[in-house]
Amino acid sequence: MTDISSPVTGDPPAPVGAAPAARADRIVKEYGRGDAKVVALNEVSVELPAGRFTAIMGPSGSGKSTLMHCMAGLDSVDSGRVFVGDVDLTRLDDKRLTRLRRDRIGFIFQAFNLVPTLTALENITLPLDIAGRRPDQAWLDTVVDSIGLRERLSHRPSELSGGQQQRVACARALVSRPEIIFADEPTGNLDSRSGAEVLAFLRNAVREMGQTVVMVTHDPVAAAYADLVLFLADGRLVDQMADPTAEKVLERMKGFELPGVGYR
Ligand SMILES: Nc1ncnc2c1ncn2[C@@H]1O[C@H](COP(=O)(O)OP(=O)(O)O)[C@@H](O)[C@H]1O
Ligand SMILES: [Mg+2]
Repeated sequence: MTDISSPVTGDPPAPVGAAPAARADRIVKEYGRGDAKVVALNEVSVELPAGRFTAIMGPSGSGKSTLMHCMAGLDSVDSGRVFVGDVDLTRLDDKRLTRLRRDRIGFIFQAFNLVPTLTALENITLPLDIAGRRPDQAWLDTVVDSIGLRERLSHRPSELSGGQQQRVACARALVSRPEIIFADEPTGNLDSRSGAEVLAFLRNAVREMGQTVVMVTHDPVAAAYADLVLFLADGRLVDQMADPTAEKVLERMKGFELPGVGYR
């Protein structure tokens, strides 16, 4: 298992100035129409640095999940452009977009989204099986060892705790060595101890495996594991913070909080 004692230890992140893993250029996303119209993203431009752990923070309804879904090709934008590497997602047809998501992006969701009838190992290798790819055994071993669940690989999700299920989901996201992993509130359903294990795992995937991870969260403690925090408010990118601590993030969030509105 990885060290979960402190969110601020580890090697320094990759040098600044590298090409971003993904970027958004003035993206707009609206839901509904007329009086019911909601501008979920209002001309958001952002770069997600490669080889870094980025957290997206903001109050409830600020557009965090929408931004993640648009940048991961799970949802379309109304205007603006989204790039993963050099590929403009807004120009891909559905078939190519599906293939890009499958081959180049990893996903981790709040509700784990494991297949209940498959074992942990079968869940981990499922994306490769669907893509018709053979797992690289050495890499699979590395990933399995890093989640610390080798002795539970034949268990089904219902036989695992929430934290264990989310670590399986993390391994599933990593096993294809995606260019970028998107996680939406990955600790939202976990107790603090299990959440810390998942966060430490994600941070290690960045520091030790060179992965790029982007995590949506409303929790300042979770955000403190990241190298960079992007703050959204009301569909706009309003601030960024490098080398965050929970205290600094909480302090910054207070400026966005409205009476009666939570962070989620
Ligand atoms: N499918 C949808 N239909 C209508 N409105 C939506 C939909 N998804 C999100 N919204 C609205 O868009 C805004 C941003 O939502 P979301 O991205 O989920 O925020 P967050 O993840 O920061 O809580 C909110 O006002 C929300 O109600
Ligand atoms: Mg959300």
